Amino acid sequence: MSDTVILAIESSCDETAAAIVRGDSELLANVVATQIDVYKEFGGVVPEVASRIHVEQISMVIAQALSQAHMTCAEVDAIAVTQGPGLIGSLHVGVQAAKTLAWAYHKPLVPVHHIAGHIYANAFVTKLRFPLLALVVSGGHTELVYMRDEWSFEILGTTQDDAIGEAGDKVGRVLKLPYPGGVYVDRLAKEGQNIYPLAKPKVQGEYDFSFSGLKSSVLQFIARCERNHEPFKAADLACSYQECALQALLAPTQKALQNYQPKMMVLAGGVAANSRLRELIQTQIAPTYPHTEFIIPPLSCCTDNAAMIAVAGSVAYRHGVRGDFSLSADPGFILGEHIQG
Ligand code: KG4
Ligand code: ZN
Repeated sequence: MSDTVILAIESSCDETAAAIVRGDSELLANVVATQIDVYKEFGGVVPEVASRIHVEQISMVIAQALSQAHMTCAEVDAIAVTQGPGLIGSLHVGVQAAKTLAWAYHKPLVPVHHIAGHIYANAFVTKLRFPLLALVVSGGHTELVYMRDEWSFEILGTTQDDAIGEAGDKVGRVLKLPYPGGVYVDRLAKEGQNIYPLAKPKVQGEYDFSFSGLKSSVLQFIARCERNHEPFKAADLACSYQECALQALLAPTQKALQNYQPKMMVLAGGVAANSRLRELIQTQIAPTYPHTEFIIPPLSCCTDNAAMIAVAGSVAYRHGVRGDFSLSADPGFILGEHIQG
C-alpha cells in the first residue's frame, strides 16, 4: 500500500466537500457542507443557487479538512477533483479551487470521474477485488459497471431515461413528501403494502434500466384517484412503486452476476442508502451467488462526499492520471474515458 496523501475536492451537485486520504483508504479528514435544506423550499436543486453556495463554502471546507488532518497543503502529494459528470457551474467551482491549489503549491492535479468515486467509496469497507461488478444508483445515474481490473471500467447497461434516484425524488414530490423524495419514499414504504398495480418498465438491452414509464404510472394512478374521488393510501403507493423500481433494478443485476461471475459486487451512489435495496441484496441476492463477495457501503459513504474522490484519486494517481492547467469541468465526462495519464 502506498503512502501517497491525496487532498480531494467534490462539488458536482449540492454538496461542497473536501477530504484527505493516505494510501488506499486511511481517512485523515472528511468535510461535507450540504445545501439540502436550501432546496427543501424549492423541491429540487437549483443549479444557479448551487454554484453560488459552492463559491461561498469551498475555501472554508478545504481549510477545515486540512485542519482536521493537522496538515498544510504543502504536505499533500496531489490534488484530486471531480471533473464530471454533474452540474457545470457546480463542477467549475471545485475544478477552479483544485487548479488554484495545484498551481500555488506545485502539486499534481488528478481529475476523477464522479462515479469512479462512488464505486471506490467501498474501499473504506474492504480491499476491492476484481473482476468486480458495481451497481451505481444515484440522482443522476443508474448503471451496471464491470471492472475487469483495478482501473478499468466497462458500462454494461444504463438507464434509457430517468435515473432511479431522480424517479424516486419525483414520486416523493407527487406524494407531497419533503426533498429529497427518495429518502422519504423509502421511509413511507415501510408502513405500506405492495398492492397497487403499476406499469412494469420495458427495456431494450439485457442490462438496461428504465424508470420514466413507472414514474408516469404513479402520476396517472394519483390523477385517476383524484378524478374519481377515490382515496388511496400513500404508504401503499410508495411501497408499490419502490418494489416495482427495485425489481427493475435487480433483474438486470442478477443477469450480470450470472453471466460475469464477479469476485465482488458493490453498491454505489446515493440510492445505495435505500433500506429495502440493502435488504434485498443481503437476503435474496447474495445467498444465490456464494462465489461473489457482496459489499454494501455504510450510509455515510453512499451520498456525495470527497473521501470517495480521494480514494479513487489515489488509484488514478498510481495509474498516472494527471490534469494540467487547461483542465475544465466536464458535465458529460464518460466513465472509462481518459483513464490513463
Ligand atoms: O449520489 P447522490 O448523493 O447524488 C448524485 O450523484 O445524484 O444521490 C442522491 C440521490 C437522490 O435522488 C436521493 O433521493 C437518493 O439518492 N437517496 C435515496 C435514499 N437516500 C438517498 N433514494 C432512496 N432511498 C434512500 N434511502
Ligand atoms: Zn453522486
